[in-house]
Amino acid sequence: MVEQWKSRSGFILATIGAAVGLGNIWRFAYVAGENGGGVFLMTYLFFVALIGLPLVIAELSIGRRGASDTVTAFEVAGGSTRWRLIGWIMVGGALLILSYYSVIAGWAVRYFVGALSGDLWQDAGEKYGAYFEGFISNDFEPLFWQALILIVSGVVVAGGIQKGIERLNLVLMPLLGLIVLGLAVFSLTLPGSGAGVRFLLAPDWSAFGRPSLYLAALGQAFFSLGLGMAVFVTYGGYLSASTRIPGAAATVAAGDTVFAIVAGLAIFPAVFALGGDPAAGPRLAFVVFPQILLQLPGGTFIGPIFFFLLSAAALTSMISLLEVAVACASHRMGLARNRGSWAIVAIVLALGVPSALSYGMLAEVKLLGQPILDNIDQAVSNFVLPLSGLLVAVLVGWRIERLRTLADADFGDTWLGAVWLWSIRTLAPITIAVILLRSLGVV
Ligand code: PHE
Repeated sequence: MVEQWKSRSGFILATIGAAVGLGNIWRFAYVAGENGGGVFLMTYLFFVALIGLPLVIAELSIGRRGASDTVTAFEVAGGSTRWRLIGWIMVGGALLILSYYSVIAGWAVRYFVGALSGDLWQDAGEKYGAYFEGFISNDFEPLFWQALILIVSGVVVAGGIQKGIERLNLVLMPLLGLIVLGLAVFSLTLPGSGAGVRFLLAPDWSAFGRPSLYLAALGQAFFSLGLGMAVFVTYGGYLSASTRIPGAAATVAAGDTVFAIVAGLAIFPAVFALGGDPAAGPRLAFVVFPQILLQLPGGTFIGPIFFFLLSAAALTSMISLLEVAVACASHRMGLARNRGSWAIVAIVLALGVPSALSYGMLAEVKLLGQPILDNIDQAVSNFVLPLSGLLVAVLVGWRIERLRTLADADFGDTWLGAVWLWSIRTLAPITIAVILLRSLGVV
């Protein structure tokens, strides 16, 4: 018998913890910044509601039916051992994400410590770019901080579902919600912040013509929700039959989206108020933002809070990805939870070395003109995640018999269920396929 969540709210907070992460703060801000702000937000919201939410429901229902690890759950759902392959692909994907995600999480921890000790503020003025470059190009430091946050994640996962994962999220997630709200209020009271709000909320309609917008918004929707990596399959495996999946999934999707928007309202108004560049790319949170903080009254007090938020949000997502693999190691390979957790942490550290060194020792190794980490991030978010989502949609929509699939998702034969099934069968697979093929230049 596998462990179960202690309470519905514990499950919801843990799942929101998985969804809310670097994707909502670091990635959302820079991808929205690069893709025109308001237009990006609208496209993103559209994908979350029509494709993301239905797929969260689908993953949770596969997971709960399997009541085990991801690989077993796919076998049960597909009705034959062949479907295990999708489970293994997703576990591999989760390890791959974790390998570079933990590098950026490590940067956040390093910045938190630097902001707290004052080290970060000493190199004032225009030097933040050099500070950041100096840190990420070091041959050892990024690995150290990556290992540190991975070990913390390992401790939590080794603690188990209720005593480790659920307990941490019950404390951390409400706290992170309060912090991000507080930061947004602070940012919105700055003189000149209105331009940042307009940038994020007022769409410039002409930008809808750009094809790259759609791939970026779809990739971000998948990444931010945490879809396609079997996190919901795994967390759904510990869910009791009495929790209704659609309501829980809607709460999680809404929580993740609101978090991203509020984080955007903390970042963009400050960036605009002080004349920063919203399209600064992945450096936005680590270079532009600290520079801005230093120019603000109270900025050096806000700094540690912001980087704590970033580190803690990353931690709860890393835990969910780790759990995907640890559940498989324990159910399919018979490893005890404790041993399984440390074995997976070691594998992820080894896999993560190229990412950790991709601006240092390996800076010369470039693919498509980009460093290794940027390539993995884009390949995973824009292709691997949507592709796994497509496979889940085919399995849940077409392979499983209609009434059973509706019952597994707690819809029954209702009109809402019909809308959900229409998205899973038609809208989601077609939209994903068209966007992927277009971006590969096939159609
Ligand atoms: N959703 C997480 C974030 O926004 C990242 C993640 C992706 C987590 C895929 C799990 C699975 O940072």
